[in-house]
Amino acid sequence: MKKYTAVVIGAGPGGYACAIRLAQLKIKTLVIEREFLGGACLNVGCIPSKAMIHAAKTWEKFKKSDAMGMTVEGAKLDFAKTQSWKQTVVQKMTGGIGQLLKGNGADHLAGEATFTGPKKISVKTKDGVEEIEADYFVIATGSSPIEIPGFKFDEKDVWSSTGALAATEVPKRLVVIGGGYIGLELGMAYAKFGSKVTVIEATPGLLPGFDPELVKTISLAVKKRGIEVIADAKAKGWSKCKDGLTVEFEFGGKIEKLECDKILVTVGRRPNSKSGDVEKAGVKLDPKGFIPVDKQRRTNVPHIFAIGDIAGQPMLAHKASAEAEVAAEAIAGHKEVEYGPATVPAVIFTDPEVATAGMSEPEAKAAGFTLKIAKFPWGASGRATAIGEVEGFVRVIADQKTERVLGVQIIGPGASDLISEAALAIEMNAYLDDLSLTIHPHPTLGEAVMEAAKATLGAPVHVLPAKG
Ligand code: FAD
Ligand code: NAI
Repeated sequence: MKKYTAVVIGAGPGGYACAIRLAQLKIKTLVIEREFLGGACLNVGCIPSKAMIHAAKTWEKFKKSDAMGMTVEGAKLDFAKTQSWKQTVVQKMTGGIGQLLKGNGADHLAGEATFTGPKKISVKTKDGVEEIEADYFVIATGSSPIEIPGFKFDEKDVWSSTGALAATEVPKRLVVIGGGYIGLELGMAYAKFGSKVTVIEATPGLLPGFDPELVKTISLAVKKRGIEVIADAKAKGWSKCKDGLTVEFEFGGKIEKLECDKILVTVGRRPNSKSGDVEKAGVKLDPKGFIPVDKQRRTNVPHIFAIGDIAGQPMLAHKASAEAEVAAEAIAGHKEVEYGPATVPAVIFTDPEVATAGMSEPEAKAAGFTLKIAKFPWGASGRATAIGEVEGFVRVIADQKTERVLGVQIIGPGASDLISEAALAIEMNAYLDDLSLTIHPHPTLGEAVMEAAKATLGAPVHVLPAKG
Protein backbone atom coordinates (compact mmCIF):
# COMPACT_ATOMS: atom_id res chain seq x y z
CA MET A 1 0.00 0.00 0.00
CA LYS A 2 1.37 3.45 -0.98
CA LYS A 3 1.40 6.09 1.76
CA TYR A 4 1.14 9.87 1.39
CA THR A 5 0.74 12.71 3.87
CA ALA A 6 -1.97 14.31 1.70
CA VAL A 7 -4.11 13.00 -1.15
CA VAL A 8 -6.16 15.38 -3.30
CA ILE A 9 -9.07 13.86 -5.23
CA GLY A 10 -9.80 15.75 -8.45
CA ALA A 11 -7.46 18.01 -10.43
CA GLY A 12 -9.67 20.98 -11.33
CA PRO A 13 -8.82 24.56 -10.27
CA GLY A 14 -9.55 23.45 -6.70
CA GLY A 15 -7.60 20.20 -6.67
CA TYR A 16 -4.56 21.10 -8.78
CA ALA A 17 -4.07 24.41 -6.95
CA CYS A 18 -4.27 22.58 -3.62
CA ALA A 19 -1.76 19.91 -4.67
CA ILE A 20 0.68 22.58 -5.89
CA ARG A 21 0.42 24.54 -2.64
CA LEU A 22 0.75 21.37 -0.52
CA ALA A 23 3.91 20.39 -2.40
CA GLN A 24 5.30 23.92 -1.99
CA LEU A 25 4.71 23.49 1.75
CA LYS A 26 6.90 20.34 1.59
CA ILE A 27 4.02 17.94 2.16
CA LYS A 28 4.20 14.55 0.41
CA THR A 29 1.22 14.92 -1.92
CA LEU A 30 -0.62 12.86 -4.51
CA VAL A 31 -3.36 14.25 -6.76
CA ILE A 32 -5.71 11.76 -8.39
CA GLU A 33 -7.70 12.66 -11.51
CA ARG A 34 -10.14 10.37 -13.31
CA GLU A 35 -10.60 12.30 -16.53
CA PHE A 36 -8.42 15.31 -17.34
CA LEU A 37 -5.91 17.57 -15.57
CA GLY A 38 -7.47 21.01 -15.14
CA GLY A 39 -10.97 19.69 -14.42
CA ALA A 40 -14.11 21.17 -15.92
CA CYS A 41 -12.62 24.65 -15.98
CA LEU A 42 -9.68 24.04 -18.27
CA ASN A 43 -11.19 21.29 -20.41
CA VAL A 44 -14.92 21.93 -20.84
CA GLY A 45 -15.57 25.19 -18.98
CA CYS A 46 -13.83 28.51 -18.42
CA ILE A 47 -10.99 28.20 -20.92
CA PRO A 48 -12.66 26.66 -24.00
CA SER A 49 -15.71 28.90 -23.52
CA LYS A 50 -13.59 32.04 -23.29
CA ALA A 51 -11.61 31.00 -26.38
CA MET A 52 -14.87 30.47 -28.27
CA ILE A 53 -16.29 33.78 -27.03
CA HIS A 54 -13.12 35.54 -28.18
CA ALA A 55 -13.38 33.90 -31.62
CA ALA A 56 -17.05 34.94 -31.88
CA LYS A 57 -16.20 38.53 -31.02
CA THR A 58 -13.37 38.56 -33.57
CA TRP A 59 -15.76 37.24 -36.25
CA GLU A 60 -18.35 39.88 -35.36
CA LYS A 61 -15.70 42.61 -35.59
CA PHE A 62 -14.74 41.45 -39.08
CA LYS A 63 -18.27 42.09 -40.19
CA LYS A 64 -18.87 45.33 -38.31
CA SER A 65 -15.89 47.53 -39.04
CA ASP A 66 -17.43 49.52 -41.92
CA ALA A 67 -17.65 52.67 -39.79
CA MET A 68 -13.84 52.61 -39.50
CA GLY A 69 -13.58 52.34 -43.26
CA MET A 70 -12.86 48.62 -43.28
CA THR A 71 -14.80 46.23 -45.44
CA VAL A 72 -13.74 42.63 -45.38
CA GLU A 73 -14.79 41.00 -48.60
CA GLY A 74 -15.13 37.24 -48.86
CA ALA A 75 -14.89 36.74 -45.09
CA LYS A 76 -15.40 33.05 -44.39
CA LEU A 77 -15.98 31.14 -41.19
CA ASP A 78 -14.49 27.64 -40.94
CA PHE A 79 -16.05 26.69 -37.61
CA ALA A 80 -14.37 23.28 -37.43
CA LYS A 81 -11.03 25.11 -37.63
CA THR A 82 -12.19 27.59 -34.97
CA GLN A 83 -12.86 24.62 -32.71
CA SER A 84 -9.52 22.98 -33.37
CA TRP A 85 -7.79 26.31 -32.59
CA LYS A 86 -9.79 26.44 -29.34
CA GLN A 87 -8.57 22.93 -28.53
CA THR A 88 -4.93 24.04 -28.92
CA VAL A 89 -5.62 26.68 -26.27
CA VAL A 90 -7.02 23.98 -23.96
CA GLN A 91 -4.06 21.68 -24.57
CA LYS A 92 -1.54 24.43 -23.78
CA MET A 93 -3.28 25.14 -20.48
CA THR A 94 -3.78 21.53 -19.37
CA GLY A 95 -0.20 20.61 -20.33
CA GLY A 96 0.96 23.49 -18.15
CA ILE A 97 -0.82 21.97 -15.12
CA GLY A 98 1.09 18.69 -15.51
CA GLN A 99 4.36 20.63 -15.59
CA LEU A 100 3.42 22.72 -12.54
CA LEU A 101 2.53 19.63 -10.50
CA LYS A 102 5.77 17.90 -11.46
CA GLY A 103 7.91 21.01 -11.03
CA ASN A 104 6.56 21.56 -7.52
CA GLY A 105 7.03 17.91 -6.57
CA ALA A 106 3.41 16.72 -6.34
CA ASP A 107 2.70 13.20 -7.65
CA HIS A 108 -0.16 12.65 -10.08
CA LEU A 109 -2.09 9.43 -10.63
CA ALA A 110 -4.63 8.99 -13.44
CA GLY A 111 -7.60 7.05 -12.08
CA GLU A 112 -10.85 7.18 -10.14
CA ALA A 113 -10.58 7.35 -6.35
CA THR A 114 -13.06 5.79 -3.93
CA PHE A 115 -12.89 5.92 -0.14
CA THR A 116 -12.69 2.47 1.48
CA GLY A 117 -12.29 3.88 5.00
CA PRO A 118 -11.54 7.20 6.75
CA LYS A 119 -7.81 7.10 5.80
CA LYS A 120 -7.85 4.77 2.81
CA ILE A 121 -8.83 4.99 -0.82
CA SER A 122 -8.72 2.62 -3.72
CA VAL A 123 -7.90 4.02 -7.15
CA LYS A 124 -9.07 2.37 -10.35
CA THR A 125 -6.41 3.05 -12.98
CA LYS A 126 -6.04 1.68 -16.50
CA ASP A 127 -3.53 -0.86 -15.12
CA GLY A 128 -5.63 -2.09 -12.20
CA VAL A 129 -6.51 -1.03 -8.68
CA GLU A 130 -4.14 0.75 -6.28
CA GLU A 131 -4.73 1.04 -2.54
CA ILE A 132 -3.48 4.28 -0.99
CA GLU A 133 -3.31 5.50 2.60
CA ALA A 134 -2.94 9.12 3.72
CA ASP A 135 -3.10 11.29 6.83
CA TYR A 136 -5.16 13.98 5.09
CA PHE A 137 -7.55 14.06 2.13
CA VAL A 138 -8.90 16.96 0.09
CA ILE A 139 -12.10 16.25 -1.85
CA ALA A 140 -12.17 18.45 -4.97
CA THR A 141 -14.45 16.38 -7.15
CA GLY A 142 -16.37 19.28 -8.72
CA SER A 143 -19.78 19.37 -10.38
CA SER A 144 -21.68 18.31 -13.51
CA PRO A 145 -24.42 19.86 -15.67
CA ILE A 146 -27.99 19.34 -14.45
CA GLU A 147 -30.30 17.36 -16.73
CA ILE A 148 -34.02 18.16 -16.80
CA PRO A 149 -36.86 15.73 -17.52
CA GLY A 150 -37.46 15.27 -21.22
CA PHE A 151 -34.02 16.60 -22.23
CA LYS A 152 -31.49 13.80 -21.76
CA PHE A 153 -28.06 14.95 -22.96
CA ASP A 154 -27.00 13.03 -26.06
CA GLU A 155 -24.58 15.81 -27.11
CA LYS A 156 -26.00 15.42 -30.64
CA ASP A 157 -29.45 16.99 -30.58
CA VAL A 158 -29.48 17.98 -26.91
CA TRP A 159 -26.27 19.62 -25.80
CA SER A 160 -24.90 20.25 -22.34
CA SER A 161 -22.26 22.99 -22.27
CA THR A 162 -19.73 20.27 -23.18
CA GLY A 163 -21.56 19.45 -26.42
CA ALA A 164 -21.93 23.14 -27.28
CA LEU A 165 -18.17 23.60 -26.82
CA ALA A 166 -17.34 20.61 -29.03
CA ALA A 167 -19.66 21.23 -32.02
CA THR A 168 -18.01 21.59 -35.40
CA GLU A 169 -20.97 23.23 -37.15
CA VAL A 170 -22.94 26.33 -36.24
CA PRO A 171 -26.64 25.41 -35.92
CA LYS A 172 -28.98 27.65 -37.91
CA ARG A 173 -31.45 27.75 -35.01
CA LEU A 174 -30.44 27.15 -31.41
CA VAL A 175 -32.80 26.90 -28.45
CA VAL A 176 -31.09 27.56 -25.13
CA ILE A 177 -32.92 26.39 -22.01
CA GLY A 178 -31.80 28.51 -19.04
CA GLY A 179 -30.77 32.17 -19.21
CA GLY A 180 -27.97 32.09 -16.63
CA TYR A 181 -24.18 32.24 -16.96
CA ILE A 182 -23.66 29.55 -19.59
CA GLY A 183 -26.88 30.14 -21.52
CA LEU A 184 -25.98 33.79 -22.06
CA GLU A 185 -22.25 33.31 -22.67
CA LEU A 186 -22.58 30.47 -25.19
CA GLY A 187 -25.93 31.66 -26.54
CA MET A 188 -24.38 35.01 -27.41
CA ALA A 189 -21.29 33.39 -28.93
CA TYR A 190 -23.46 31.22 -31.20
CA ALA A 191 -25.59 34.25 -32.12
CA LYS A 192 -22.40 36.00 -33.26
CA PHE A 193 -21.38 32.95 -35.29
CA GLY A 194 -24.77 33.21 -37.05
CA SER A 195 -27.29 31.08 -35.10
CA LYS A 196 -30.81 32.35 -34.52
CA VAL A 197 -30.88 31.94 -30.74
CA THR A 198 -33.96 31.69 -28.51
CA VAL A 199 -33.58 31.48 -24.74
CA ILE A 200 -36.30 29.78 -22.70
CA GLU A 201 -35.99 30.92 -19.08
CA ALA A 202 -38.11 29.61 -16.19
CA THR A 203 -38.03 32.77 -14.05
CA PRO A 204 -39.38 36.23 -15.02
CA GLY A 205 -36.00 37.39 -16.39
CA LEU A 206 -32.39 36.64 -17.24
CA LEU A 207 -29.69 36.09 -14.62
CA PRO A 208 -31.94 35.59 -11.60
CA GLY A 209 -30.36 36.97 -8.43
CA PHE A 210 -28.22 39.57 -10.23
CA ASP A 211 -28.60 43.31 -9.64
CA PRO A 212 -31.75 44.53 -11.47
CA GLU A 213 -29.85 47.41 -13.18
CA LEU A 214 -27.39 44.93 -14.69
CA VAL A 215 -30.18 42.59 -15.76
CA LYS A 216 -32.02 45.46 -17.46
CA THR A 217 -28.93 46.46 -19.44
CA ILE A 218 -27.89 42.93 -20.44
CA SER A 219 -31.48 42.14 -21.47
CA LEU A 220 -31.40 45.08 -23.90
CA ALA A 221 -27.98 44.02 -25.20
CA VAL A 222 -29.20 40.48 -25.78
CA LYS A 223 -32.23 41.74 -27.71
CA LYS A 224 -30.04 44.07 -29.78
CA ARG A 225 -28.00 41.06 -30.88
CA GLY A 226 -31.11 39.34 -32.20
CA ILE A 227 -31.54 36.85 -29.34
CA GLU A 228 -35.13 36.25 -28.34
CA VAL A 229 -35.85 35.61 -24.67
CA ILE A 230 -39.01 33.79 -23.61
CA ALA A 231 -39.19 34.31 -19.85
CA ASP A 232 -41.55 32.66 -17.36
CA ALA A 233 -41.55 29.61 -19.62
CA LYS A 234 -40.96 25.95 -18.85
CA ALA A 235 -39.45 23.56 -21.39
CA LYS A 236 -41.42 20.31 -21.44
CA GLY A 237 -39.86 18.05 -24.03
CA TRP A 238 -38.69 17.74 -27.63
CA SER A 239 -39.15 15.60 -30.70
CA LYS A 240 -37.72 15.31 -34.20
CA CYS A 241 -39.63 17.02 -37.00
CA LYS A 242 -39.24 17.35 -40.77
CA ASP A 243 -36.86 20.29 -40.62
CA GLY A 244 -35.07 19.60 -37.36
CA LEU A 245 -36.29 19.48 -33.78
CA THR A 246 -39.42 20.78 -32.05
CA VAL A 247 -39.20 22.02 -28.48
CA GLU A 248 -42.41 22.12 -26.46
CA PHE A 249 -42.68 24.62 -23.66
CA GLU A 250 -45.34 25.93 -21.33
CA PHE A 251 -45.93 29.68 -21.51
CA GLY A 252 -48.89 31.62 -20.11
CA GLY A 253 -50.73 28.41 -19.26
CA LYS A 254 -50.48 27.08 -22.83
CA ILE A 255 -48.16 24.61 -24.55
CA GLU A 256 -46.19 26.34 -27.32
CA LYS A 257 -43.85 24.87 -29.93
CA LEU A 258 -40.58 26.11 -31.36
CA GLU A 259 -38.50 24.59 -34.16
CA CYS A 260 -34.73 24.49 -34.01
CA ASP A 261 -31.65 22.49 -35.02
CA LYS A 262 -29.97 22.06 -31.63
CA ILE A 263 -31.02 22.39 -28.00
CA LEU A 264 -28.58 23.59 -25.35
CA VAL A 265 -29.62 22.93 -21.75
CA THR A 266 -27.91 25.18 -19.18
CA VAL A 267 -30.06 25.11 -16.06
CA GLY A 268 -27.26 24.93 -13.50
CA ARG A 269 -24.71 22.45 -12.20
CA ARG A 270 -24.96 19.94 -9.37
CA PRO A 271 -22.18 18.73 -7.06
CA ASN A 272 -20.57 15.36 -7.88
CA SER A 273 -21.76 14.05 -4.51
CA LYS A 274 -21.81 10.40 -5.49
CA SER A 275 -18.22 10.43 -6.66
CA GLY A 276 -15.59 8.92 -4.36
CA ASP A 277 -18.05 7.29 -1.94
CA VAL A 278 -17.19 9.99 0.60
CA GLU A 279 -19.85 8.78 3.02
CA LYS A 280 -17.74 5.63 3.52
CA ALA A 281 -15.16 7.89 5.14
CA GLY A 282 -17.87 9.39 7.38
CA VAL A 283 -18.18 12.66 5.39
CA LYS A 284 -21.67 14.17 5.57
CA LEU A 285 -23.48 15.82 2.67
CA ASP A 286 -26.12 18.56 2.91
CA PRO A 287 -29.59 18.02 1.37
CA LYS A 288 -28.40 19.52 -1.95
CA GLY A 289 -25.42 17.14 -2.11
CA PHE A 290 -22.73 19.70 -1.22
CA ILE A 291 -20.17 18.89 1.49
CA PRO A 292 -20.47 21.34 4.40
CA VAL A 293 -17.10 22.74 5.53
CA ASP A 294 -15.75 25.06 8.24
CA LYS A 295 -13.62 28.19 7.74
CA GLN A 296 -10.55 26.06 6.99
CA ARG A 297 -12.61 23.97 4.53
CA ARG A 298 -12.57 20.99 6.92
CA THR A 299 -15.50 18.58 6.69
CA ASN A 300 -17.17 16.95 9.69
CA VAL A 301 -14.25 14.45 9.58
CA PRO A 302 -11.26 16.46 10.88
CA HIS A 303 -8.58 15.06 8.51
CA ILE A 304 -10.77 15.41 5.39
CA PHE A 305 -11.22 18.74 3.61
CA ALA A 306 -13.51 19.74 0.72
CA ILE A 307 -13.04 22.61 -1.74
CA GLY A 308 -14.48 24.04 -4.95
CA ASP A 309 -17.86 23.23 -6.49
CA ILE A 310 -18.39 20.19 -4.23
CA ALA A 311 -18.12 22.49 -1.17
CA GLY A 312 -20.93 24.84 -2.19
CA GLN A 313 -21.80 28.07 -3.99
CA PRO A 314 -20.58 30.09 -5.74
CA MET A 315 -19.45 27.49 -8.25
CA LEU A 316 -16.58 29.53 -9.63
CA ALA A 317 -13.01 28.56 -10.45
CA HIS A 318 -11.39 31.42 -8.51
CA LYS A 319 -13.39 30.49 -5.39
CA ALA A 320 -12.15 26.89 -5.74
CA SER A 321 -8.51 28.00 -6.04
CA ALA A 322 -8.78 30.39 -3.08
CA GLU A 323 -10.23 27.60 -0.92
CA ALA A 324 -7.47 25.27 -2.15
CA GLU A 325 -4.74 27.44 -0.66
CA VAL A 326 -6.54 27.69 2.67
CA ALA A 327 -7.02 23.91 2.93
CA ALA A 328 -3.36 23.28 2.01
CA GLU A 329 -2.13 25.69 4.65
CA ALA A 330 -4.49 24.25 7.26
CA ILE A 331 -3.06 20.79 6.51
CA ALA A 332 0.44 22.26 6.90
CA GLY A 333 -0.57 23.30 10.41
CA HIS A 334 -1.11 27.05 9.89
CA LYS A 335 -3.72 27.39 12.63
CA GLU A 336 -4.73 31.00 11.92
CA VAL A 337 -5.56 30.49 8.23
CA GLU A 338 -9.23 30.98 7.28
CA TYR A 339 -11.34 31.31 4.14
CA GLY A 340 -13.30 34.52 4.64
CA PRO A 341 -13.20 36.76 1.58
CA ALA A 342 -15.01 40.09 1.77
CA THR A 343 -16.21 39.33 -1.75
CA VAL A 344 -15.98 36.69 -4.46
CA PRO A 345 -16.21 38.71 -7.67
CA ALA A 346 -18.29 37.25 -10.50
CA VAL A 347 -18.05 37.82 -14.24
CA ILE A 348 -20.33 36.87 -17.08
CA PHE A 349 -18.43 36.94 -20.34
CA THR A 350 -21.24 38.23 -22.50
CA ASP A 351 -21.04 41.25 -24.77
CA PRO A 352 -21.01 43.63 -22.96
CA GLU A 353 -19.32 41.80 -20.08
CA VAL A 354 -21.07 41.85 -16.71
CA ALA A 355 -19.02 41.91 -13.49
CA THR A 356 -19.86 42.37 -9.84
CA ALA A 357 -18.00 42.64 -6.56
CA GLY A 358 -19.52 43.17 -3.13
CA MET A 359 -23.15 44.02 -2.50
CA SER A 360 -25.85 44.80 -5.03
CA GLU A 361 -28.21 47.69 -4.24
CA PRO A 362 -30.98 45.40 -2.89
CA GLU A 363 -28.44 43.49 -0.77
CA ALA A 364 -26.91 46.68 0.69
CA LYS A 365 -30.37 48.04 1.52
CA ALA A 366 -31.40 44.73 3.09
CA ALA A 367 -28.25 44.90 5.22
CA GLY A 368 -29.54 48.21 6.63
CA PHE A 369 -27.22 50.67 4.87
CA THR A 370 -28.28 54.11 3.67
CA LEU A 371 -26.56 54.39 0.33
CA LYS A 372 -24.66 56.75 -1.93
CA ILE A 373 -24.88 55.40 -5.47
CA ALA A 374 -23.80 56.73 -8.84
CA LYS A 375 -23.06 55.47 -12.29
CA PHE A 376 -20.48 56.44 -14.86
CA PRO A 377 -21.75 55.61 -18.37
CA TRP A 378 -19.28 54.20 -20.88
CA GLY A 379 -20.53 56.75 -23.40
CA ALA A 380 -18.57 59.37 -21.39
CA SER A 381 -15.30 57.40 -21.52
CA GLY A 382 -12.78 58.47 -24.15
CA ARG A 383 -11.29 55.00 -24.39
CA ALA A 384 -14.63 53.19 -24.64
CA THR A 385 -15.68 55.59 -27.40
CA ALA A 386 -12.39 55.04 -29.23
CA ILE A 387 -12.88 51.28 -29.25
CA GLY A 388 -16.59 51.60 -30.12
CA GLU A 389 -17.93 49.83 -27.02
CA VAL A 390 -20.13 52.27 -25.15
CA GLU A 391 -22.96 50.07 -23.85
CA GLY A 392 -23.35 49.99 -20.06
CA PHE A 393 -21.83 51.67 -17.04
CA VAL A 394 -19.70 51.38 -13.92
CA ARG A 395 -21.73 51.78 -10.75
CA VAL A 396 -20.39 52.27 -7.25
CA ILE A 397 -22.40 51.72 -4.09
CA ALA A 398 -21.11 53.16 -0.82
CA ASP A 399 -22.27 53.56 2.76
CA GLN A 400 -23.54 57.16 3.02
CA LYS A 401 -22.27 57.55 6.58
CA THR A 402 -18.72 56.21 6.27
CA GLU A 403 -18.23 56.49 2.48
CA ARG A 404 -16.83 52.95 2.47
CA VAL A 405 -17.24 51.10 -0.83
CA LEU A 406 -19.84 48.34 -0.45
CA GLY A 407 -20.30 47.15 -4.01
CA VAL A 408 -19.35 47.76 -7.63
CA GLN A 409 -21.23 46.64 -10.74
CA ILE A 410 -19.72 46.94 -14.16
CA ILE A 411 -21.36 46.20 -17.47
CA GLY A 412 -19.28 47.10 -20.47
CA PRO A 413 -15.87 46.75 -22.08
CA GLY A 414 -13.14 45.21 -19.96
CA ALA A 415 -15.51 44.57 -17.05
CA SER A 416 -13.88 41.18 -16.41
CA ASP A 417 -10.52 42.82 -15.74
CA LEU A 418 -11.71 46.05 -14.13
CA ILE A 419 -13.66 44.24 -11.41
CA SER A 420 -10.42 43.21 -9.70
CA GLU A 421 -9.79 46.83 -8.66
CA ALA A 422 -13.27 46.89 -7.11
CA ALA A 423 -12.66 43.56 -5.35
CA LEU A 424 -9.41 44.95 -3.91
CA ALA A 425 -11.23 48.09 -2.72
CA ILE A 426 -13.88 46.01 -0.97
CA GLU A 427 -11.33 43.58 0.47
CA MET A 428 -9.35 46.53 1.88
CA ASN A 429 -12.46 48.29 3.18
CA ALA A 430 -11.60 51.27 0.97
CA TYR A 431 -13.27 54.68 1.04
CA LEU A 432 -14.72 56.30 -2.08
CA ASP A 433 -11.76 58.70 -1.92
CA ASP A 434 -9.32 55.79 -2.25
CA LEU A 435 -10.82 55.06 -5.66
CA SER A 436 -11.50 58.65 -6.69
CA LEU A 437 -8.07 60.08 -5.72
CA THR A 438 -6.00 57.23 -7.15
CA ILE A 439 -4.61 58.56 -10.43
CA HIS A 440 -5.65 56.25 -13.27
CA PRO A 441 -3.77 56.46 -16.58
CA HIS A 442 -5.54 58.18 -19.48
CA PRO A 443 -7.17 57.16 -21.74
CA THR A 444 -8.04 53.80 -20.20
CA LEU A 445 -11.12 51.84 -19.30
CA GLY A 446 -9.86 51.81 -15.71
CA GLU A 447 -10.59 55.55 -15.43
CA ALA A 448 -14.30 54.70 -15.39
CA VAL A 449 -13.95 53.10 -11.95
CA MET A 450 -12.34 56.30 -10.64
CA GLU A 451 -14.98 58.45 -12.39
CA ALA A 452 -17.82 56.36 -10.92
CA ALA A 453 -16.34 56.87 -7.43
CA LYS A 454 -16.10 60.64 -8.09
CA ALA A 455 -19.72 60.61 -9.26
CA THR A 456 -20.75 58.78 -6.09
CA LEU A 457 -19.10 61.60 -4.13
CA GLY A 458 -21.11 64.07 -6.20
CA ALA A 459 -18.08 65.45 -8.04
CA PRO A 460 -17.74 63.74 -11.43
CA VAL A 461 -15.55 65.44 -14.04
CA HIS A 462 -16.75 63.86 -17.27
CA VAL A 463 -20.50 63.62 -16.59
CA LEU A 464 -22.88 66.11 -15.05
CA PRO A 465 -23.57 65.48 -11.36
CA ALA A 466 -26.93 63.88 -10.58
CA LYS A 467 -29.55 66.49 -9.57
CA GLY A 468 -30.96 66.62 -6.05
P1 FAD B 1 -13.86 20.67 -11.40
O1 FAD B 1 -13.21 21.64 -12.28
O2 FAD B 1 -15.20 20.13 -11.79
O3 FAD B 1 -12.84 19.47 -11.23
C1 FAD B 1 -13.15 18.31 -10.53
C2 FAD B 1 -12.30 17.19 -11.07
O4 FAD B 1 -12.44 16.07 -10.22
C3 FAD B 1 -12.72 16.72 -12.46
O5 FAD B 1 -11.62 16.80 -13.34
C4 FAD B 1 -13.18 15.28 -12.25
O6 FAD B 1 -12.83 14.44 -13.34
C5 FAD B 1 -12.40 14.89 -11.00
N1 FAD B 1 -13.01 13.82 -10.21
C6 FAD B 1 -14.29 13.74 -9.76
N2 FAD B 1 -14.46 12.64 -9.02
C7 FAD B 1 -13.26 12.00 -9.00
C8 FAD B 1 -12.81 10.80 -8.41
N3 FAD B 1 -13.61 10.04 -7.68
N4 FAD B 1 -11.53 10.43 -8.60
C9 FAD B 1 -10.69 11.20 -9.33
N5 FAD B 1 -11.07 12.34 -9.92
C10 FAD B 1 -12.33 12.75 -9.75
N6 FAD B 1 -15.94 29.53 -13.55
C11 FAD B 1 -15.30 30.71 -13.50
O7 FAD B 1 -14.86 31.12 -12.42
N7 FAD B 1 -15.13 31.47 -14.64
C12 FAD B 1 -15.60 31.07 -15.84
O8 FAD B 1 -15.43 31.77 -16.83
C13 FAD B 1 -16.28 29.84 -15.91
N8 FAD B 1 -16.77 29.40 -17.08
C14 FAD B 1 -17.39 28.20 -17.14
C15 FAD B 1 -17.91 27.78 -18.36
C16 FAD B 1 -18.56 26.57 -18.46
C17 FAD B 1 -19.12 26.13 -19.79
C18 FAD B 1 -18.68 25.74 -17.30
C19 FAD B 1 -19.33 24.40 -17.40
C20 FAD B 1 -18.19 26.15 -16.09
C21 FAD B 1 -17.55 27.39 -15.98
N9 FAD B 1 -17.05 27.87 -14.77
C22 FAD B 1 -16.43 29.08 -14.72
C23 FAD B 1 -17.19 27.09 -13.52
C24 FAD B 1 -15.86 26.36 -13.21
O9 FAD B 1 -15.54 25.52 -14.29
C25 FAD B 1 -15.99 25.56 -11.92
O10 FAD B 1 -16.43 26.40 -10.87
C26 FAD B 1 -14.65 24.97 -11.55
O11 FAD B 1 -14.18 24.10 -12.55
C27 FAD B 1 -14.75 24.21 -10.22
O12 FAD B 1 -13.50 23.67 -9.90
P2 FAD B 1 -13.38 22.33 -9.04
O13 FAD B 1 -11.92 22.08 -8.91
O14 FAD B 1 -14.20 22.43 -7.83
O15 FAD B 1 -14.07 21.19 -9.92
P1 NAI C 1 -27.04 29.21 -13.81
O1 NAI C 1 -27.43 28.84 -12.45
O2 NAI C 1 -26.12 30.34 -14.03
O3 NAI C 1 -28.34 29.53 -14.68
C1 NAI C 1 -29.36 28.59 -14.83
C2 NAI C 1 -30.58 29.30 -15.38
O4 NAI C 1 -31.51 28.32 -15.78
C3 NAI C 1 -31.27 30.21 -14.37
O5 NAI C 1 -31.58 31.41 -14.98
C4 NAI C 1 -32.52 29.41 -14.00
O6 NAI C 1 -33.60 30.22 -13.61
C5 NAI C 1 -32.80 28.70 -15.30
N1 NAI C 1 -33.57 27.46 -15.18
C6 NAI C 1 -33.49 26.51 -14.22
N2 NAI C 1 -34.32 25.49 -14.50
C7 NAI C 1 -34.93 25.79 -15.68
C8 NAI C 1 -35.87 25.12 -16.50
N3 NAI C 1 -36.36 23.92 -16.19
N4 NAI C 1 -36.28 25.73 -17.65
C9 NAI C 1 -35.77 26.95 -18.00
N5 NAI C 1 -34.88 27.62 -17.25
C10 NAI C 1 -34.45 27.04 -16.11
O7 NAI C 1 -26.48 27.87 -14.46
P2 NAI C 1 -25.54 27.58 -15.72
O8 NAI C 1 -25.66 28.66 -16.72
O9 NAI C 1 -25.85 26.20 -16.12
O10 NAI C 1 -24.09 27.64 -15.10
C11 NAI C 1 -23.76 26.79 -14.00
C12 NAI C 1 -22.75 27.45 -13.13
O11 NAI C 1 -21.46 27.41 -13.72
C13 NAI C 1 -22.98 28.93 -12.86
O12 NAI C 1 -23.94 29.13 -11.86
C14 NAI C 1 -21.63 29.39 -12.45
O13 NAI C 1 -21.40 29.07 -11.11
C15 NAI C 1 -20.72 28.54 -13.33
N6 NAI C 1 -20.29 29.29 -14.53
C16 NAI C 1 -19.57 30.43 -14.36
C17 NAI C 1 -19.19 31.18 -15.43
C18 NAI C 1 -18.42 32.41 -15.21
O14 NAI C 1 -17.91 32.60 -14.10
N7 NAI C 1 -18.29 33.29 -16.20
C19 NAI C 1 -19.53 30.80 -16.81
C20 NAI C 1 -20.29 29.58 -16.86
C21 NAI C 1 -20.65 28.87 -15.77
